[in-house]
Amino acid sequence: MSEAFRVNILTIFPEMFESFFSASILGRAREQGLIDIRTTDIRPFSNSKHHNTDDYPFGGGAGMVMMAQPILDAMKAVTTEYSSAKRIYLGPRGKRLTTSLARELAREKELILLCGHYEGVDQRALDACIDEEISIGDYILTGGELAAMVLTDCVARFIPGVLGCAESPEEESFSDGLLEYPQYTRPRELDGRSVPEVLLSGDHAKIRAWRRRESLRATLRFRPDLLEGADLSPDDLKIVKELENECSSES
Ligand SMILES: C[S@@+](CC[C@H](N)C(=O)[O-])C[C@H]1O[C@@H](n2cnc3c(N)ncnc32)[C@H](O)[C@@H]1O
Repeated sequence: MSEAFRVNILTIFPEMFESFFSASILGRAREQGLIDIRTTDIRPFSNSKHHNTDDYPFGGGAGMVMMAQPILDAMKAVTTEYSSAKRIYLGPRGKRLTTSLARELAREKELILLCGHYEGVDQRALDACIDEEISIGDYILTGGELAAMVLTDCVARFIPGVLGCAESPEEESFSDGLLEYPQYTRPRELDGRSVPEVLLSGDHAKIRAWRRRESLRATLRFRPDLLEGADLSPDDLKIVKELENECSSES
């Protein structure tokens, strides 16, 4: 069996992670030894008397800044065991997390994720020990812990065996540049609303064609900006034109 994909998360709140990583698909992947997720508490690495990890910002201003020393020492301790790890800081100014970035990160063997808190992290710690900064979106969280969970969850889906079916991550929204088609399950009839007939037909070619059309429809409706970068065939372009005409005749 191949070695587990390893993630070590540096945080001052390790207790936040336990239930998230123990449940559902990630919990099962951990039990199966496909992914090994650990946390490292930064606090015990602090040299200060009360194990403080933050201090006032030079130059004044609101809030506190995470000190470099405990982070650098925690990182040093962890990198001895995770010597080939890519070291990532979760921060709002970083590169945006996308499906393709998650797919790329899943090709690494190990990741170390640093979670900031308060006003952020002393820049010298980032300069000294971080390979890449990654943001999960254009908004501000109170800390990097949620972002580390999001990144780990998203990357884990690309680790062979985690989803139980190797193709699944490639059939989701964004994987081919489009949003996913609508999904249905039982019952066939619900309060007068029926499942589209084609999905009950057993005709796989027709189902594939319907799904492609609905995927294009959803993208046109919710994220038309994605259509510009998507890899569309001449048939897709014809469908988009038809859908645009449908929309304009409805309005
Ligand atoms: C309150 S934020 C600091 C924001 C910082 N002062 C700024 O304006 O850019 C505290 C921590 O949350 C994390 N964080 C906040 N927003 C994030 C985002 N969009 N993506 C990833 N991490 C984020 C970072 O680790 C950051 O150090």
